[in-house]
Formats: sequence, structure tokens, C-alpha cells
Amino acid sequence: MQLRVLGSAAGGGYPQWNCNCPRCQQARGGGLSDQCRTQSSIAVSADGRHWLLVNASPDIRQQILDTPALHPSTGLRGSGIAAVLLADSQLDHVTGLVMLRESHHPLSIYCTPRTEEDLRTGFPVLNILSHYCGTQVHPLPLDGAAVEPAETPGVRVTAIPLKSKAPPYSPHRAAPEPGDNLGFFFHSAEGDGGVFYAPGLGDMDDSLLPWMARANVLLVDGTTWTDDEMQRVVGGRKTAREMGHLPQSGAHGTMALLAQYPKARRILIHINNTNPILDPASEERAALEQAGIETAHDGMHIPF
Ligand code: MLT
Ligand code: MN
Ligand code: ZN
Repeated sequence: MQLRVLGSAAGGGYPQWNCNCPRCQQARGGGLSDQCRTQSSIAVSADGRHWLLVNASPDIRQQILDTPALHPSTGLRGSGIAAVLLADSQLDHVTGLVMLRESHHPLSIYCTPRTEEDLRTGFPVLNILSHYCGTQVHPLPLDGAAVEPAETPGVRVTAIPLKSKAPPYSPHRAAPEPGDNLGFFFHSAEGDGGVFYAPGLGDMDDSLLPWMARANVLLVDGTTWTDDEMQRVVGGRKTAREMGHLPQSGAHGTMALLAQYPKARRILIHINNTNPILDPASEERAALEQAGIETAHDGMHIPF
């Protein structure tokens, strides 16, 4: 089994188009120009030919160009992307669906009924696509059962409900329910292990622990280093936790959480442009390395 990181940044990417914070400035021409990152997406495959796209980011066109395994291989039209799996209806995870409208067959999309409803109401991209390639939506179960999409032989994935919130344009925004936001467990071909993937981890709850304990690879929320980072660096209104993201530092942050799983490969993903870990020379990056935690980058290849 293999996983490719297509986009390792949070919504906005790194640098963000309108951001003049010191770190975004450095990415545009200063010392951090090799650290640019596109928005949140990964792809998973068993055979290296049929890929399950996990979230469709606004940067998908660039991500496909940068990933030869996703290029058309045979026939006049084609793609390595065989199906799409969605964690939620957030803009950074679904806007890329619009870019896939030239597909020669209806896009096969795996998501919860809650996410499908958002994508037919608050952000009606599925209705829009019905005028182009069309879609075939497969509902994801939330009972721990593994799904094996017919389009991606050998890929087995379990959807894990996360405590978070639907996006601002969702009719469900004020009344969160399981199915608004998901983490995923991608099962290894053999044995009990796999990858636990949660780009938005807002509130740890005990139902996640067995999945985390099973995982050989933990690929989790690396949005911010501190809870008040967006307020301090760019004058944002909300804390990381209020946006559905655990910060890395602090007694109940992701570093403390990941310290409980020393045997797994531990990688941070969905990194916001305010996060000091984007600078490889920062003391925060050094603290991560000291703790054995990796920082995802675009193009990262993770066998599992
Ligand atoms: C988030 O993860 O909180 C979202 O990406 C925010 C956004 O895209 O605006
Ligand atoms: Mn996001
Ligand atoms: Zn910035």
C-alpha cells in the first residue's frame, strides 16, 4: 500500500495569496521559498495505478501535474484518480471537484450523507457537476466497517467520525453530528496496521484511541503550534481549537498525544502558514525532530 501527500498545507496554502506575515514573505522570495506547500490532500493506492483521491483541494491541478502517477496513461482521456473520498465539505477539501469536471465518466465520490447534503445545499458543487461529468455518490458507513471502493482494488478504508464542525455555509453548522467531519484508517494489505489520517483533529475522544493504537503511521493535524497563533500572527478572530484544530504545543496538544505512540511513524500535515514549524531552522521544528515527529511536505511518499 502506498500514500502520497499531494498537499500538506491547511486552507490558504503556504504562502497564502494575500498574506504578508513574515513567514509568507519569506516563502515568496526569502529563505523559505523551498518550503511552499499546496492545500490539504493525499492519495492512496494498492497497485500504484488506481488512486483514491482523499479530498479535492483548490490546488488539485498543480498537484496532478506534480504527480506522474496521476497523469493519463492509456487511451485518449484518463487519469490515475479512480475515485474520490471526502473527509468533510470544507472548501479546502472539496473545491477541487470543480476542476475534475472534464472527467469522461461520472466521478465516483465516497462521503457521508451529511457531507453530501452540504454539497447539494450550502456549497452545491454536486448539483453543478450534474451539468458536466456527473457524480455517483457512495454513502460511507460510520460503524467501523471497512469500505473497499470498486475503482481502487486493494484499498480498504474505515471512516472515523471526529468531533468538529461543518463549515460556515453548511445547514448543519450549528448542530454538529457524527458524519460532518471524518478521520480515516487506511488498512495495510496484511496484518492489523495501517495509516490513521486526520487533518482536522479538534477534540480528542476515546473512540479514536483504538485506531491510533493500531496505526503504523499517524498522519495528523499540524495546523498551528499554539492555540492563539492566528490571532497573534495575523489578527484572526478564532483560536485553533475554535476552528476544530488541536495545537501542537501544550499539555493537551498533538505533541503530547503523539508521545503516547512511540512505535508509529508520526507525521504532521495540514500545516497553516502561521505555523513556525514551516521554518526548518526554527526551535519549534527542532523540538518536533527531537520528539521523532516528521513534518509532511508535498510529494511525500509513505509506504504502509
Ligand atoms: C480548516 O481546516 O479550518 C479550513 O481549511 C479553513 C478554511 O479552509 O477556510
Ligand atoms: Mn482545512
Ligand atoms: Zn502568512
